[in-house]
This record gives sequence, C-alpha cells and structure tokens, in this order.
Amino acid sequence: MWYKEDLAFIHDIGFSDYALKSAPGIIEILKQNNIQEGLIVDLGCGSGLSAREFVKANYQVFGVDISEAMIKLARTRVPEAKFQVGSLFQIEIPPCHAVTSIGECLNYLFDSNSDREKLIHLFHRIYNALIPGGVFIFDIAEPGQVTQETTIKNFTEGKDWIVLVEKEENRDGILTRRIITFRKVGEHYRRDDEVHRQQLYEIVEITEKLNSVGFEVQIMQNYGQYNLPLKHTAFIARKLINLNS
Ligand SMILES: C[S@@+](CC[C@H](N)C(=O)[O-])C[C@H]1O[C@@H](n2cnc3c(N)ncnc32)[C@H](O)[C@@H]1O
Repeated sequence: MWYKEDLAFIHDIGFSDYALKSAPGIIEILKQNNIQEGLIVDLGCGSGLSAREFVKANYQVFGVDISEAMIKLARTRVPEAKFQVGSLFQIEIPPCHAVTSIGECLNYLFDSNSDREKLIHLFHRIYNALIPGGVFIFDIAEPGQVTQETTIKNFTEGKDWIVLVEKEENRDGILTRRIITFRKVGEHYRRDDEVHRQQLYEIVEITEKLNSVGFEVQIMQNYGQYNLPLKHTAFIARKLINLNS
C-alpha cells in the first residue's frame, strides 16, 4: 500500500541524505547520554540507512517499518540487524537502550486515521521499553509545510527514475502528498501512484505528551551538524534514572 517497490527504491537512492547526515549527530547524542552500546529500536527504519550507521558504531539494531519493500532493502543492506514488517503503533517494543524514529515517521497516517491519543500510547510503550537512562530520539513535521489553500507541485529526478509530488495542507494540519513515480524497468518506464497523509504536530503538543508519560524533553532544530528542513523539529526524550528506587 505505501512505499511500494518503486517508491522504496527511489527513497533509498534519492532521499538518503536525511538519514545519513543525521546519523553522526544521533550517535553523538547517544554517547553524550552514556549509551555506548546496546539495542536501538528504529521505528520507521525505512531501507536501513540509519541502521547501518548504528551497527557500524557498535550498536545492535531492531528496525520496524510498515513497508515490505523498505524492509527487504534494509535486510539486504544490514544483515547484522533484525527487521520486522509492522506498524510502529502496534508492534511489541523490546527492552532497549534507545528508540529512534527518523524522518517524520510519527506523522504518517498509514494505519489509522488521525487520532492524537495513539501518540500517548506509543510514548507510554516506548517509555516502558527503555532502560532507566535510555533515550527516545525522533523528529516530526509541524504545521506550515504548505501555505493553506495552495497546492505545491514539484519533481525530483535521478538516473532512470522521476518522482512527482503534489502537496496540500488543510486547516486541521493534515498534509496530503500525491506521489507519482516513473521508474525505468527494461526498456519502458513503469508508473506507480501513492497518496500519503500525515498529521502535522505542534512542538508544544508533542512536548506535553512526552512530559505526561514521564520523559524529560529537549528540542533541537538539528542532529549534530545536520540542520533539519524548515518546520521540522527533533526531540530527545530521556527516561531519567530514579535515584530513590
Ligand atoms: C520518510 S521515510 C523515513 C525512513 C527512514 N527512517 C529514513 O530516514 O530513511 C518514513 C518511513 O516511515 C514508515 N512508516 C510510516 N508510518 C509507519 C507506521 N505506522 N509503522 C511503521 N513504519 C511507518 C514508512 O514506511 C517509511 O519507511
């Protein structure tokens, strides 16, 4: 249904910057939090670009993604890691040192309609899975991706592929992306279509929800040297060590 074979291929080859350029900054955050080793659960792991960097830095990785095509690419790229096809809103999160979710994965409305309570459930599950001192590092897209009442159309091309995107944002903060891909297979170009909907979140809403489940929260506009695109924010949510227990 989403990130099918051709879009997964194009995302992997043409849109790898976000994951690859943010990985050094994320690894730095882990080290600053005394997480030098152990399990990272990567929610919305895509084609395993971040997973490969984490494994190179000596972490174990369990990656989850709703797209079978993405997981197929991830398994080939990082045979040392474990991957599972499934929704990050549903799968069981094993005990771990860190949880990551890179590239606005939490905004997607793939497996449910907009339901802000589902984020609280997710944050609870992550909090419970993390060891004391563990961190949850992720980023989200905020409202304002597109001026309301307007439609933005653009395209990106590479060798043997092109992707066309039409974007609209409504008053409720729902961003709709209509995506058309053309990929050369043999002599011809194959067309595929997908529609992605995302719920855009205000920073304050995410911060309050993280606080309400017990996290200490820090927000950033960058992962290390990598500045996030406009209207994107990264969060470090820490599960504090309770010195009284
Ligand atoms: C923009 S891509 C980012 C992929 C990867 N983290 C990266 O940085 O390259 C968003 C990913 O989130 C995944 N995704 C969206 N909603 C999901 C859900 N409910 N459960 C699991 N994966 C999801 C998509 O399939 C896609 O691979």
